[in-house]
Amino acid sequence: MPVVRIAIAGAGSVSRHYLSDLQDCPHAQVVAICDVVPERARERAEQYGVTQVFDSVDDMLSGCDFDMLVNLTSMQQHYPINRKALQAGRHVLCEKPFATTLDEGRSLIDAARARGVNLWATPTVVTSPAFRCMAQLLDQKAVGDVYVARAWYGHGGPGWGPWFYQKGGGCLFDLGVYNITTLTGLLGPARSVTALMGTAVPERFVEGQHVKVEADDNTIVLMDHGNSVFSCVMTGFVYGPYHEERTIELVGTKGSINMLGWDWHPKGVEIWDAGSDGWKVVCEDQQGYNWNQGASYLARCLASGERPWMSIEHAFHVLEVMLAAQKSAETRQCVQVHSLFPAPWREEA
Ligand SMILES: NC(=O)c1ccc[n+]([C@@H]2O[C@H](COP(=O)([O-])OP(=O)(O)OC[C@H]3O[C@@H](n4cnc5c(N)ncnc54)[C@H](O)[C@@H]3O)[C@@H](O)[C@H]2O)c1
Repeated sequence: MPVVRIAIAGAGSVSRHYLSDLQDCPHAQVVAICDVVPERARERAEQYGVTQVFDSVDDMLSGCDFDMLVNLTSMQQHYPINRKALQAGRHVLCEKPFATTLDEGRSLIDAARARGVNLWATPTVVTSPAFRCMAQLLDQKAVGDVYVARAWYGHGGPGWGPWFYQKGGGCLFDLGVYNITTLTGLLGPARSVTALMGTAVPERFVEGQHVKVEADDNTIVLMDHGNSVFSCVMTGFVYGPYHEERTIELVGTKGSINMLGWDWHPKGVEIWDAGSDGWKVVCEDQQGYNWNQGASYLARCLASGERPWMSIEHAFHVLEVMLAAQKSAETRQCVQVHSLFPAPWREEA
């Protein structure tokens, strides 16, 4: 089976999680890393035995032979770097969000098609055993018809990366994106969105500097999935410790299904169906799944020909939902959503 040669853009916080996962992947070899802060790239390269180090994506694209760019830069940098890599004929996996406007998103999908390469974006949540289990339980109507769901994910906000708080950042793009991917994956595409968004803390102290907060830090998104199926996502950078035992809850007409733990780090699935007299825990073994495995998962798919469950159409839909939420919060109106995506977990169930 061929080995996929990977180059990483962005040697910040997340890069070590990807690099340690890729170390154990037989289908991938990290051949280069770059960062505009050169010592970051050098440090990661030394830690993980990466032989080629660059201080710009342009130099890495022109000076190194590789198959897939893994874009781990700050959100505002994703679009221009993705575009360059796709135009240079490289597959791209981008951390979320893969673009910050719909026009940017469309143009990247077009660029990938034009060059005959693949574009993917995290989150990888649809590839977890817990997600697969919940999708199967829904298909089997194990708890009847599900019309109601809610999910939440928040924390106090990153203590690094001022860009998290600047325009193009925010808690919905950073955290809510996981729950929106999971709930649209399970319940189907959103048809319309209504949202509340605020900036509760106007200034943050990050990496030794005061940062004026320009992005949302407290957001609630309501999604209408059609046929009176509704879901709610709560997310923020203003969350202290809270109950995190189950963070995704689906309520059906004959019972309920919960995800235990987080969708990016699930611990199992809990079900209460019509035939039970209490909660039953299933799918406790996550087979090592964690949020940082997108690159090794896609390297395996590229090497073996396996069809990935992550798709850029789903990531585009999630982007459209998040932008619709921003518009809804600004206008206090419900905003329509038009995009659709394939759901291989249904076809292969
Ligand atoms: N940190 C987390 O826990 C976490 C978890 C999941 C996903 N993510 C996502 O991963 C991405 C990176 O997050 P992070 O926490 O590692 O951020 P970070 O700020 O720690 O790292 C980003 C790195 O990108 C570099 N960079 C910026 N512009 C660049 C450019 N043009 N070319 C090359 N390098 C450039 C920066 O110098 C920095 O080292 C974001 O999309 C974030 O949403 C973060």
